[in-house]
Amino acid sequence: MLTGKRILIGIGGGIAVYKIAELARMLTKAGAKVRCIMTKSACEFVTPLTFEALTGYQAHTALFDLTSEREMGHIALARWADAVIIAPATASLLARLAHGIADDLLTTTMQVCDKPVLLAPAMNTSMWESEATQRNMATLCGRGMHCVGPDEGELACGESGSGRLSDVRAILSGLLPLLTDKPFIGQHWVINAGPTEEAWDDVRILTNRASGMLGALLADLAAIMGASVSLIAGPGTADTHPGVMRRNVSTALEMLTVCELEASAASVFIATAAVSDFRFAEPVQGKLKRGDTDNLMVELIANPDIVAHIAALPARPAKVIAFAAESDNHIDHARSKLVKKHVDAVVANDIANIGSDKAGGWWISKHGEQIAIEAESKLDFAKQIISHITELNR
Ligand SMILES: Cc1cc2nc3c(=O)[nH]c(=O)nc-3n(C[C@H](O)[C@H](O)[C@H](O)COP(=O)(O)O)c2cc1C
Repeated sequence: MLTGKRILIGIGGGIAVYKIAELARMLTKAGAKVRCIMTKSACEFVTPLTFEALTGYQAHTALFDLTSEREMGHIALARWADAVIIAPATASLLARLAHGIADDLLTTTMQVCDKPVLLAPAMNTSMWESEATQRNMATLCGRGMHCVGPDEGELACGESGSGRLSDVRAILSGLLPLLTDKPFIGQHWVINAGPTEEAWDDVRILTNRASGMLGALLADLAAIMGASVSLIAGPGTADTHPGVMRRNVSTALEMLTVCELEASAASVFIATAAVSDFRFAEPVQGKLKRGDTDNLMVELIANPDIVAHIAALPARPAKVIAFAAESDNHIDHARSKLVKKHVDAVVANDIANIGSDKAGGWWISKHGEQIAIEAESKLDFAKQIISHITELNR
């Protein structure tokens, strides 16, 4: 998603500037081309060399630099970028940007720039809450700039409150939607993910090895592409994009209840969760004692089939996608699930994918498609699944 994207980071003179080195590294590692403009104050905290070493590009600092102006001046920098991050966005930078002051390389470049901008403010709480800063933020947001943070917490000045620079991963999550088309605007996607847990007693559970990673990635991608997304997440499911509405659940019955609630207004339902097929008929209160017996018979009863249930709703989502994790005859099993559960497509994959980095499988649709999906990562797998769902006719 970031491969080949050109990201300009405008770095202000705040104490959090050292965290931007990590942001630059993460962006570069994700395949983006990163250029930095540092204000004079930013250079008081960290030297340009840090950013040059991390990005492989000169870190730009001066407006009146003959060589830079000839090779990559303020106009060229503004045109070069696909998106801009201003971080840390100091109170002073916010004020200058809001009032159109162009008195250094960064603010002059921003006067030229018509690309999406993400502001990541960081400052002392009183500075952040001051009327001037709040008005400047309102002006910039009113102009279409985006904002991530600031977060609450302990500040470098020793005080506590709102003003911490957002985590660099949150800044990255805030950037992705600015670089992506939004074909799913107006659609509601519901995705379940992760394992479920069935209590045997108050200590022991019946569960499985699913990590929820694929469901979380599908949720992130759909949200970044404009859908409103609800992720019904079993225990331990991976973190998700801030734009994803997450409902944490534990048992299969809880997952069913929330899925049914959410699916009533959904256009797409994707069942990636590894739902326990069975639950204990009579869960024990407290902790079951070992006792003297060598054998213990336990009665399990079947849980409802969530995806079949959603597909059978009178007002079902237009596209219902099931997953089939199998150890053999993947395609045959997926085909029989497709028919039995009345879903629109099944993604078949091997049980070796569960809880691991392995990815890939087959897309089997009700229109007779049978497409092998070769993927180098779970993210790549998720992207290909989204594109099959997009192309699936009802
Ligand atoms: C040690 C120190 C830490 C600072 N931290 C911040 C900060 O976190 N946020 C902020 O808005 N200003 C902070 N300032 C004040 C800015 O550096 C100052 O307003 C400067 O003019 C900002 O310039 P710039 O916006 O061009 O980078 C700090 C100043 C000092 C001396």
